[in-house]
Amino acid sequence: MFEYSEKVMDHFMNPRNVGELEDPDGVGRVGNPICGDIMEFQVKVEDEHISDVKFRTFGCGAAIAVSSMVSEMAKGKTLDEAMKITNKMVAKELDGLPKNKLHCSNLGADALHKAIEDYREKQKKSARKQTAGSGGEADGKG
Ligand code: FES
Repeated sequence: MFEYSEKVMDHFMNPRNVGELEDPDGVGRVGNPICGDIMEFQVKVEDEHISDVKFRTFGCGAAIAVSSMVSEMAKGKTLDEAMKITNKMVAKELDGLPKNKLHCSNLGADALHKAIEDYREKQKKSARKQTAGSGGEADGKG
């Protein structure tokens, strides 16, 4: 039997921020090469801050607890701060994971970072479009 901390059990039994956002600004999905499980993070961004975050984890209990903790840690943070969240920090916040479940913590922060990168990519693309489209565009007001 694995020995999970109380925090892991709590986040596993009552995961925070599970589900999907209606119109996410960024989506990140990663697969665990060790077990094949998948984590997906969706973020809403306002003023360079993560205003909302949801996740879906197709994986084990530890992975669910990790995702839940990452979502809590990320909410309200600036994008730069959220990019600094590491998988190690998450495992520490959960008061550790059993050794043979440590690989389950490898994806949480990665999926979040991918969602932020996805948002930033989209921003760049729409900025490029706007620059390319500037000049003779109707402003659409009225
Ligand atoms: Fe796959 Fe834990 S066994 S993430």
